[in-house]
Amino acid sequence: MVAKKLRIYGFLGSPRRKGNTATLLEAVLREARKRGHETELIHLMGRKISGCVECFACQKVMDEPGCAIKDDMQEMFPKMLSADCILLATPVFDWSFSWLMKAFLDRTYCLAKYAEDGTYTSLLEGKKCGLLVTAAGDEFDGADLVVEAYRRIVEYHRMEYIGHIVVGNVNTGEDVLRPGIKRKIKEFVKNML
Ligand SMILES: Cc1cc2nc3c(=O)[nH]c(=O)nc-3n(C[C@H](O)[C@H](O)[C@H](O)COP(=O)(O)O)c2cc1C
Repeated sequence: MVAKKLRIYGFLGSPRRKGNTATLLEAVLREARKRGHETELIHLMGRKISGCVECFACQKVMDEPGCAIKDDMQEMFPKMLSADCILLATPVFDWSFSWLMKAFLDRTYCLAKYAEDGTYTSLLEGKKCGLLVTAAGDEFDGADLVVEAYRRIVEYHRMEYIGHIVVGNVNTGEDVLRPGIKRKIKEFVKNML
């Protein structure tokens, strides 16, 4: 029994469809389904997602994304806008997000709408947002920087920060779902509401 059923979209930024990050995201979504939430996993790999080209066409429309780049992000925007909760799942690549996740995040610029006086609103305002990270190093070998960037993005879009799970020192999927992490997954999903 859940107080409120959430619509959760998990965006997977790993090039590996069955890699460590996929294992983590799938486990979180499975736990969320057990609690009655609706989930969808979206692979960014294999989709055509360009980086932002700074044309600012998006700033000419205030109530919709208005992104001029007609690629697969056009399918992602409606999902993000209809979500109660957005999960960003990424491996650490060079002390940062994966290239797939970085392009995806840069394209969400169009969801922030600027007024002439420099103030802005975000079409993502109020939505919950969580972060899932896997890394070969420990949590201070790049994952910490990803967490910090995520915090700032959440703050920028005035979303609701629901926390993060970092799984460091992973080699295989088995490492990802070690007992301590299973416990963290349960806590993370419980705290979504
Ligand atoms: C290009 C590349 C860069 C990486 N850079 C880092 C890094 O800076 N810090 C780190 O801890 N792990 C780094 N890793 C390791 C991955 O983050 C780690 O193996 C991750 O679990 C892979 O997830 P996946 O199986 O979902 O792709 C890197 C791996 C690759 C392929």
